Amino acid sequence: MKIGIIGTGYVGLVSAVGLAELGHEVVGTDKVAEKIEKISQGNVPIYEPGLQELLQANLRRGNLSFTADLTSTIATSDVLFVCVNTPQREDGSADMTYVEGVSRKIAENLNQYKLIVEKSTVPVRTSSWIKRTISLYRKRDVDFDVASNPEFLREGAAVSDFLHPDRVIIGVESERAREILVKIYERFQDRILVTNIDTAELIKHASNSFLAMKISYINLMADLCERTDADVEQVAQGMGLDERIGSRFLRAGLGYGGSCFPKDVRALIRIGEDLGVDLNLLKEVDRINFNCVNKTVDRLKKALWILKDKKIALLGLAFKPETDDIRNAPSIGLIERLREEGALLQMYDPQAVENMKTLFPEKKPELVYAASPYDALKGANAALIVTEWDEIKDLDLKQAKDQMENLILVDGRNVFNPAAVRKMGFEYSSVGRK
Ligand code: UDX
Repeated sequence: MKIGIIGTGYVGLVSAVGLAELGHEVVGTDKVAEKIEKISQGNVPIYEPGLQELLQANLRRGNLSFTADLTSTIATSDVLFVCVNTPQREDGSADMTYVEGVSRKIAENLNQYKLIVEKSTVPVRTSSWIKRTISLYRKRDVDFDVASNPEFLREGAAVSDFLHPDRVIIGVESERAREILVKIYERFQDRILVTNIDTAELIKHASNSFLAMKISYINLMADLCERTDADVEQVAQGMGLDERIGSRFLRAGLGYGGSCFPKDVRALIRIGEDLGVDLNLLKEVDRINFNCVNKTVDRLKKALWILKDKKIALLGLAFKPETDDIRNAPSIGLIERLREEGALLQMYDPQAVENMKTLFPEKKPELVYAASPYDALKGANAALIVTEWDEIKDLDLKQAKDQMENLILVDGRNVFNPAAVRKMGFEYSSVGRK
């Protein structure tokens, strides 16, 4: 069985490498030829721990290859995983143009039975559209099946998530498709859940929105903690001890970002609107998340009164540690808000600086990128912890202190122990803790 992966973005590239690692013969394709060239030479265009090594090992083994030729990939593959992006539109809905385009291409090149598997995060009922599109444009009366196999990998842990999944969701409508996908994921037999296609599609959106809701929920509890003597870390710990709740995704802070949660929550709201189901619950989740940035700016104002011409060190820019991804990162909203206030920003991140420069080019002295956290802290009137990289958690606070003009520390990720940093002389505020 030959597997073709269409789209070598985050999901596509990890899936291509992961499926090759499972022993399958895989060819990956992408419309960006330079990217394909780079990947073919064993270079990963994103920062993802472990991916480059695994890519190189499978390229060497010979069962993984990449090409910019979509037509030949379609023609020579038995199973096609559609991993193209579904960008967010102004109204929150997912733009399905690329998925439709790929479906037409598959239709034009359908030369024998093929299984088309959607792996991109797509609105429920997308597979019906893929099926209809292929039926409309196919040149020959060749049989095909459509299936859904949503991907749940987390950035920064993508390789391990792919090779050790909690569950493999397979949405199918024919026995033939079920057999093929169960065979592909044979190694995870005990974790496979087979459903119909609509269910599989909805599981992805429902899972991501639920996790986003958990984060917004704990951030709301953090607001209550700040107005009482409660401590949000202990509230989360106490809640998490109940197995029905679980302790994960209850870290209060600057809120969620990334390529999935913000987009998926909004997409599900839109899906609800289209289907006549009121998903106001998720609108609140989105609103609470949006407010996390505003509350952080308010903390800085509370400490410094006027932010104009104040030097603020932003430590961390990526939407979470172990990635260079800044998509929907809280840092973007922070930079915009703080620049509106006229603050001078000195920013540091171990991996995300190049990406951030494409959005906010360096402009001295308003926007400066520093080579180390200590450089960012030079002469700062306040420091703001934005991403909990180990390097930032392990910051030498004595050295930090020597660099700063005012010892004001606003911790957006609750990485420091309040008593310990205060003892060192910092004026310290964090989320939901005294
Ligand atoms: C997420 C899902 O976890 C994954 O299953 C899906 O396939 C894609 O979306 P990812 O976006 O890589 O993965 O990041 P994740 O580790 O889930 O974190 C998402 C965001 O939530 C980050 O901004 C993180 O900082 C934030 N977060 C997470 C919190 O604010 N608090 C928490 O307790 C957990």
